[in-house]
Amino acid sequence: MATEEKTLIFICQNTDCKSRGGEEIMVRLQEAFADNEGLEVCPYMCFGTCHNAPNIVIYPERQWYSDVRPSDVPEIVEALQQGSRVERICDQIDEGARNLIYTLLDAGIY
Ligand code: FES
Repeated sequence: MATEEKTLIFICQNTDCKSRGGEEIMVRLQEAFADNEGLEVCPYMCFGTCHNAPNIVIYPERQWYSDVRPSDVPEIVEALQQGSRVERICDQIDEGARNLIYTLLDAGIY
């Protein structure tokens, strides 16, 4: 990863994720990183893993958080600041589904 490359935090805002707290999670992450120019919080249309909503994908780090609760946000923020991850909710989704989304993101399709 190039040092000038920005970290993008994609938060699904489709029906399942939104109805389970995805919007609140997005707002809380936007507030937490408002002053961080190296990181951008963005809405995403749908990752296709709606049964594990809410879903968050951190790119290009390739971290996938699923079944996230608003109460998980402080831990996620801390992990991002430290360059680590919250293991208990990270990469629980099928690898094939994750790789499909990473391929789209690699191609610049957001
Ligand atoms: S509704 Fe969020 S992954 Fe589909």
